[in-house]
Amino acid sequence: MQRTIAKVGRAVGLRAAPGLPFHRFLDLVNDYDREIRDILKRKRLISTDSGDMLSILMHACGGTDNGVDSALTDDELLGHTSVFLAAGLETSANALTWTLFLLSQHPQVIADVVDELTTVLQGATPTVAQIERLPLLDHVIKESMRVISPVPFNGRVTSQAAPLAGYVLPAGTEVFVSIYHTHKMPELYPDPNVFNPRRWETIQPTRFEYNPFSAGPRMCIGAQFAMLEMKIVLAMLLQRYRLELVRNQTIARFGVIVLTPKHGILMTVHHQDRQFARGVGGVRGNVRDMVVLPS
Ligand code: HEM
Repeated sequence: MQRTIAKVGRAVGLRAAPGLPFHRFLDLVNDYDREIRDILKRKRLISTDSGDMLSILMHACGGTDNGVDSALTDDELLGHTSVFLAAGLETSANALTWTLFLLSQHPQVIADVVDELTTVLQGATPTVAQIERLPLLDHVIKESMRVISPVPFNGRVTSQAAPLAGYVLPAGTEVFVSIYHTHKMPELYPDPNVFNPRRWETIQPTRFEYNPFSAGPRMCIGAQFAMLEMKIVLAMLLQRYRLELVRNQTIARFGVIVLTPKHGILMTVHHQDRQFARGVGGVRGNVRDMVVLPS
């Protein structure tokens, strides 16, 4: 995998001389590669399906297809695990980060969410059935991913000439779809920069109007999992703790593939004492271009 990434890096002009960031990155790729190959070796020795994703992939299609062994090779397994790690971790982590930030600046919303959680769950870990009974939590996550789309755009390459909005795109054209801008269209979402989870009580956007996980045959394979994961994390975290934003910090958006806070977001963790007005306001930085925040 290191060789492939090095090749791609060279093609886009990255230099891998010792001491440079790309060199360090390639070293990390090498470590990752070795670690996963070790895990694969250990798992092959046990040879039982332990139910985790790697085991499932190792046992998938493990038969013969027209006389050819169709099990995934180690290189393919390595490729799949790194895609899942990158696609599944950064996205959900940033979506959760932005959601906690937005909640910290909207005291009435967080008060209502904590009420909903404590009423339905009474401190416990949610079951899948209980998750269905947390509509405000669902709306908070949807609204957070609308206001600050964790993946702001995706791209396609036309496989054949295709008409689009009065133009004909030749085969091989790169087309970028801005999820972020779609989510900010005022004709779909009045006051688009206002974080208002209650708008979801009356709207039902189509997949062309709301698509944080993209849409169509290549949409995010982890969409359902991500929603469940984020709900469980928020339900457990918010029942126990209050995250208070450290005032007067600069929050800058950054990123190409995933939208992330450039310098992180500083918060202090308190037991859930419901002092939601604390830490509200005083935010600086271009995060204010994306969402209306208290002064
Ligand atoms: C809030 C969390 C997440 C967001 C916003 C998100 C968003 C996206 C988007 C926009 C795409 C591009 C789809 C396209 O090109 O049409 C994508 C692809 C993908 N996502 Fe996610 N994702 C999230 C979580 C996850 C998780 C948890 C996993 C795995 C467990 C995952 C696995 C993948 C994979 C494997 C792809 C590539 C699919 C393909 O090319 O066929 N994602 N995701």
